[in-house]
This record gives sequence, C-alpha cells and structure tokens, in this order.
Amino acid sequence: MRAQLAADFERFGRELPRDWAAYVRDAYRIDLGARYLGVELPHPIGKASGQLSLKPEQLEADAAAGLAFVVLKTVIAEDEHGTRQMAAWATHETRMTVEHRRARDGRDGWTVTWKGRGWDRSLAEYCALVRAGREITNAGGPLCLPSAKYHLPPAGEPFAEAEYRHTTRALADAWGAAPLLLEFDFSPTLAGDSLADEREQVLRWIEEVPAQLRAAGVPLRLALKLMNARFDDAFQREMLRVGSASGADALVVFNRLWDPERRVACGGWDLSDRNLRVLASRGGERRIPLIATGNITTGRTLLDYASHGCESAELHTFFQLPLGEYPAAHGSRTQRALHALVFDPADGVIAGMLGLEQRGALFRRQGELRFIDVSARSDDPRQ
Ligand SMILES: Cc1cc2nc3c(=O)[nH]c(=O)nc-3n(C[C@H](O)[C@H](O)[C@H](O)COP(=O)(O)O)c2cc1C
Repeated sequence: MRAQLAADFERFGRELPRDWAAYVRDAYRIDLGARYLGVELPHPIGKASGQLSLKPEQLEADAAAGLAFVVLKTVIAEDEHGTRQMAAWATHETRMTVEHRRARDGRDGWTVTWKGRGWDRSLAEYCALVRAGREITNAGGPLCLPSAKYHLPPAGEPFAEAEYRHTTRALADAWGAAPLLLEFDFSPTLAGDSLADEREQVLRWIEEVPAQLRAAGVPLRLALKLMNARFDDAFQREMLRVGSASGADALVVFNRLWDPERRVACGGWDLSDRNLRVLASRGGERRIPLIATGNITTGRTLLDYASHGCESAELHTFFQLPLGEYPAAHGSRTQRALHALVFDPADGVIAGMLGLEQRGALFRRQGELRFIDVSARSDDPRQ
C-alpha cells in the first residue's frame, strides 16, 4: 500500500480526480466519511469562512476539486431597518498578505495577515450567495452554508433581538428546505476588541446566543465558532464547557490567535499547538460534536484534531499558500491542497490512518478503516 500511495501521490499531482474520496475507499479500503452538523460528508476537509468563499466562482472551483463543505464569508446581522449593532465589523479591506510565521518552538509555519472583518455588502447580496451555494450543493457539490456575526451586548445590556430575528429568517428563506445550517462567528477580531476583555461577558454570549437565534422561530442547526480568547487555557476549556451546554449542535474549535504587538489575528503552529493542548486537557463535560480549525496544513494535524473528537475540519490559510509550496504542479489551490493533505506519503491522511492501524490504535471494520472512528475514539465516553 505504501508503494501504491507513492504512485498515487505522483499521479494525482498531475490531476486530482473529483471523486478522489471514492477512489480512496476502493483502493485503500479507507472510508473518509465525516460529519458537519449531522450532515454526512464524503470526507472531512472543508473551507473555513473568509475571503475564499465570497463568490459563486470560488464555490464552483471547490466543487470541481471535490471539497466536502464550504462555510461562506461571515455576514454581519441587521434588523428589518438595516441597522447593525456590529456595523464596525462590516469593513471593506482587500489586502491580504500570506507570510511565514515562526512558532515559539522555532517551527516555521504560515499565517495570513489581513485587517478586514465581515461581509461588506448588503444582506440581500449575501442571501443571493447563500442561494447560489444551495444550487451548487444540490448539484452534487460541497455543502455550502452561511456564517453570521450578530449583536454581542456589553454586560447588563440586552441582545438586539430584532437583528437575531430578521437576519436568521432572511438566511432561512434563502436556504430553503429546513433546517437552516448556520455557523456563528465570535471572532477573529473580537479577540482584539475591548468588549472581549471581560470573561463573564464572553461566557454569557456563548451561553445565550443559541436561544437568541432559536427565538427567530426557524428550524436551525447551529455551530458556534469559538475564538482564542486573550486568557489562559483554563478559560478556553471553560468556553468549551459552556458552549457544550448552550444548546448549540456543534462547536468549531478554535479561531485564530491574537498578536498584541502587531494587533492582528494570526495562525501558524502556535495556533494548532494551543488548540490541541486545550482539547487534550478538557474535562468530561457533556460531549458535543467538534469541528476543527487552525493551522491544518498536513493530514497528520487533521488526524490529531480528529483524535480529540473533531468530526471534520475547516481550513483557510492552507488554501492560500504560494503555488510553489504545494507538491502538485497542476490544478487549483483547493486541488493542490487536497492532494497534499490526503495523499502525501509521509504526512497525508491515508499515511496517517495506515500508521494508526499499524500501531494498533485503529481497527478495520468489515475490512475498512474509518476516519470517523478516529474521532469516536475520544468522543464517545462509552469507548
Ligand atoms: C483572511 C482571513 C479572513 C477570515 N475571515 C473570517 C470570517 O469572516 N469569519 C470567520 O468565522 N473566520 C474567518 N477567518 C478565520 C478562518 O475561517 C479560520 O478559522 C482560521 O483562519 C483558522 O484556520 P487556518 O489556520 O487554516 O487559517 C478568516 C481568516 C483569514 C486568514
């Protein structure tokens, strides 16, 4: 199988077939099947919300590459009069810089420096993107779903209920057949905002946001995308605990770190190290499905997140590297990234799962290794 993997790596570097997940199942007896908010996916790799999911053309390229899901850029909620309490997040900024970032332990990684925030056009235009995404999904493409940031009040003040009601209903209308699938973005810039200085305030948001959204009266499956707050690991675990009991259906763990010197959100190995450390040390609270985000640049890192209960993974930075950084010489960035993540003979998902099998840490069922079993090992308290 190792020889076959080396040959496939070489071959698919020239052209990655769209149904590569089916090929992996046939050729390696590895079922990469994964889940996002209860939806069964052919494999765990999706695109995180951001500048790479603003236009239907980007979604079409992702469909051609066989990506499993795409979270659309975060829209800033508004009420029926167009008022947005979080208007400061709807800024227009096009300049992004893909940079090397050295981690504390010296490892060299990547980060994208960008000072923009949320969707900077109207809610109606965002709903048109949601509709375009639904068409792509219904035509056999990736699951494309919206992401939104709503009003987060200072302590003692009420939530702007009209924003929650109006925007959730508008998204549900654009989405069509219930339930609406939605990611709620608490970050990334929030971590650098003075509003996020109060621990109790942040925990209140996480606790109360699901009920605020559900009060809109539309059937909803909700993923809360938690940030890396500016506090210690214990606080990250506290956010996990509160998020697990909040009535959300899944948690995305965890958005980018905050660089206080440059005053920007950042990634790289410090981000995945911190996220994995927090997940490894969390307590035995009620378990909720997790979705990974943060410096996933190899299949091995993806499997590390899976072994802490993540059922799928959403990436941004790895879809933005300079072309020469991918081993494949052909294809879109999404195709090249998938090729490396899955087929790399040393660090890809296939190599990693075969390695887990060899070490007796993963077993075949009816002859197949299953990705979802990697996450079930840690997530199911009965095992
Ligand atoms: C340029 C850029 C824009 C982003 N915009 C959003 C956003 O609008 N909403 C959101 O939830 N996350 C946003 N993110 C965070 C990513 O979705 C992702 O969770 C994070 O970057 C960690 O993954 P990565 O290390 O693979 O980049 C953005 C990230 C980048 C680099």
